[in-house]
Amino acid sequence: MENGRIYLDHAATTPVDPDVVEAMLPFLTSEFGNPSSIYYRGRQARRALDEARDAVAQAIGAQSPREIIFTGGGSEADNLALKGVAWAYRDRGRHIVTTAIEHHAVLRAAKSLGDQGFDVTYVRPDAHGIVAPEAVREAIRDDTILISVMHANNETGTLQPIREIAAIARERGIVFHTDAVQTVGHLPVDVSELGCDLLSLAAHKFYGPKGVGALYVRRSVSLAPLIHGGGQEQERRAGTENVAGIVGMAKALELSAVDRPQRLEKIRRLRDRLEAGILSAIEGARLNGHPHERLPGHLNVTFDGIEGESLLLNLDMQGIEASSGSACTSGSIEASHVLLAMGLDRKAALGSIRFSLGKRNTIEEIDRVLEVLPPLVERLRNTRISPGF
Ligand SMILES: Cc1ncc(COP(=O)(O)O)c(C=O)c1O
Repeated sequence: MENGRIYLDHAATTPVDPDVVEAMLPFLTSEFGNPSSIYYRGRQARRALDEARDAVAQAIGAQSPREIIFTGGGSEADNLALKGVAWAYRDRGRHIVTTAIEHHAVLRAAKSLGDQGFDVTYVRPDAHGIVAPEAVREAIRDDTILISVMHANNETGTLQPIREIAAIARERGIVFHTDAVQTVGHLPVDVSELGCDLLSLAAHKFYGPKGVGALYVRRSVSLAPLIHGGGQEQERRAGTENVAGIVGMAKALELSAVDRPQRLEKIRRLRDRLEAGILSAIEGARLNGHPHERLPGHLNVTFDGIEGESLLLNLDMQGIEASSGSACTSGSIEASHVLLAMGLDRKAALGSIRFSLGKRNTIEEIDRVLEVLPPLVERLRNTRISPGF
């Protein structure tokens, strides 16, 4: 509990680890050189960048550091993957397969490609939020050039059968991308084991800084750049590199491997305690997502007869920070596209909230939530102020 507040929104972002800050500091102060400069200070920055690239490549099982492109976060990595592959392969075909539950960074990149003459098929998940490999196979056409399916969903934490889907893509000679922004730095992720051609990651999801990420691109895959300018990142992403951020990301990734099994087990135990406590104490509370094929820190729950946003605001007043997949667009609240795709109706989707736990959460914090939540839900149910709830 920091500042008396309980943070349960680690899927949105995480606090930067103090060791990560320490690793970054020299590159924000004395070691400020531009990696493209040929004098000493430039060479020092270049060396730090090279070491970070090696570390990221190794951490995800890439064959070569040249397969890593540093980006300004997960959204940029997703956009580069989709648009970069679509533009590079457009003479072979104009069809893309993705899913209805992707993050908006993929969905809206796909939509923009749709506006540019590409055809996009959105495969739907089952009621647990799992995308069946066979459904992906059925969506493939002769002109399919790219398949993009996320590794784990950010709202429910549900894990997708990526190996099977990647194998189908490979069998058909189609480039396969996975958005692993929620899994890298948490689960062990190995690109050869998964069989993906491209993979997105973002540092701020695993105790690194915001605004820095990477796209893994298998050597054999062609990619058109989104940002033109200098020759950085092998001419695939122009612009002076975010040296401090990249060094921080590599450090955070290195730290994520330390005591991983114990950390994941601790988080899972706390999440299971929260889940069991909520489902047993609150009638009309239902779990969204797969019961066990799920990231250990995620818990997405529908509370019947409740408006999720009101519950979040009330939890905030009690010092508890969680989130929902709903988005506020032009004054009205839009239900989560993920929960709707899983078959929830609009009311149930709007009545859902996500708790996502991290390594610093404690049993006392979970018990505090379990003390606050049931009477709060009860009170909100008894004071339904919004029409339709
Ligand atoms: C699955 C997934 N993809 C992409 C992103 C976007 O990453 P960023 O916020 O670093 O741009 C997020 C962030 O929430 C995410 O959860």
